[in-house]
Amino acid sequence: MITDVGSGSMASASGQARTFAVTRASAEETAELRRDVLRPHLTIEQMAVPGDSNPDTAYLAVRVPTGARAVLGCLRLEPVPCPWPSAGRAAAGAAAWQLRAMATDPSVRGRGLGRLLVTAAVDHVARRGGDLIWCNARVSAEQFYLRLGFRRVTPPFALPDVPEEHVGMVLRGQSIGWGRT
Ligand SMILES: CC(C)(COP(=O)(O)OP(=O)(O)OC[C@H]1O[C@@H](n2cnc3c(N)ncnc32)[C@H](O)[C@@H]1OP(=O)(O)O)[C@@H](O)C(=O)NCCC(=O)NCCS
Repeated sequence: MITDVGSGSMASASGQARTFAVTRASAEETAELRRDVLRPHLTIEQMAVPGDSNPDTAYLAVRVPTGARAVLGCLRLEPVPCPWPSAGRAAAGAAAWQLRAMATDPSVRGRGLGRLLVTAAVDHVARRGGDLIWCNARVSAEQFYLRLGFRRVTPPFALPDVPEEHVGMVLRGQSIGWGRT
């Protein structure tokens, strides 16, 4: 079953607004985009992430019914304690969710799909009682996360298998008004 978890408009190449829905997706449906954008040295089969079988793990995706690629953008959410105690109250608790696999197709970048996905992620986490989202962000994506309200909480560090350095980024619920009605 496909369940809408958010929607928003994005300017098309012709300048016209198109409405896209963010929906739940399987790991398999998003694997090609994740591989092509984030891990081009891996096979599709190698794109499984530990924790994919966790029932609380969720992939969110923006799809198009036709086109070269069915999934234009995706991200992955899993409840995982935040590794940086300085990040705040929820750092050690189950209220923290890790954001991974953030990717949009190069043909649609800069048109709001990334923001649309993160907005849906915030809603997804807030509805489940979460109050913090954290991620290991590629340095080249730091500005994207900062624009969306994340705060950088670590110096650059290395992760296995990705040549680019990463930084720890945190979005706290209270900084964007989670829980307000
Ligand atoms: C990072 C990524 C997901 C952004 O997706 P996107 O669809 O281009 O994002 P949006 O168009 O919604 O941009 C949201 C905001 O961030 C800004 N932004 C996006 N990428 C940016 C960048 N590299 N540098 C500075 N600002 C950036 C946009 O200008 C926009 O600002 P605004 O809404 O205030 O005008 C996409 O570039 C991508 O897939 N990159 C390669 C994979 C990657 O690095 N993923 C993150 C791994 S941690």
